[in-house]
Amino acid sequence: MSNIKKISHPLIEHKISILRDKNTDPFQFRMLIDEISYLMLFEASRDLELKEVRIETPVAKTKGKKLSSKIMICPILRAALGMLDAVFKLIPDASVGFLGFQRNEESLEAEFFYAKLPKDYKERTAIIIDPMFATGGTAIDAVKYLKDKGVKDIKFISIVGAPEGLEKFSKIYPDVEVYLAAIDEGLNDKGYIVPGLGDAGDRVFNTLNS
Ligand code: URA
Repeated sequence: MSNIKKISHPLIEHKISILRDKNTDPFQFRMLIDEISYLMLFEASRDLELKEVRIETPVAKTKGKKLSSKIMICPILRAALGMLDAVFKLIPDASVGFLGFQRNEESLEAEFFYAKLPKDYKERTAIIIDPMFATGGTAIDAVKYLKDKGVKDIKFISIVGAPEGLEKFSKIYPDVEVYLAAIDEGLNDKGYIVPGLGDAGDRVFNTLNS
């Protein structure tokens, strides 16, 4: 699975351990998702293309480099909304293409319900974000949706993944790199990642008890 890139960094490992803790409150949870996403995107954006530009500093004319890849960040609703601010901090010019998938609690399958892409989506590198990579169903459907629409360059950033989902995904889309901060033991019978961190959307939006 050479497309699966686990990012190892002491700061990420430290933050993930606090994130997993069931006693971490929603405020801190959101802060950690933001910080981890920032660090992950820093790594995942290493191979973005650059173009040479001319700049005039207060002292002299010179040349520099700026991103030539146009980016479309695709948060999968709803948990990935917690990762979006981190992307804007690093790539403020990114456009956002929302993808809505909802888990059917009986079949555990992802069901598509919404998409809103920028007009020039075909010219953009798509970076799909979703904090949990569980069964792989949502990830496969999201990539299929974008590929069917003609998006050529796609990356995926997640935070915690399960081996089953990653294996399934890699067999279908070996060309799509998936960046993760942790690969856990597996899935339980409800499709939750073990040990995981619970329902990421509920913890970001504080809807655990509602
Ligand atoms: N989605 C979550 O939010 N958590 C899991 O463990 C699996 C899917």
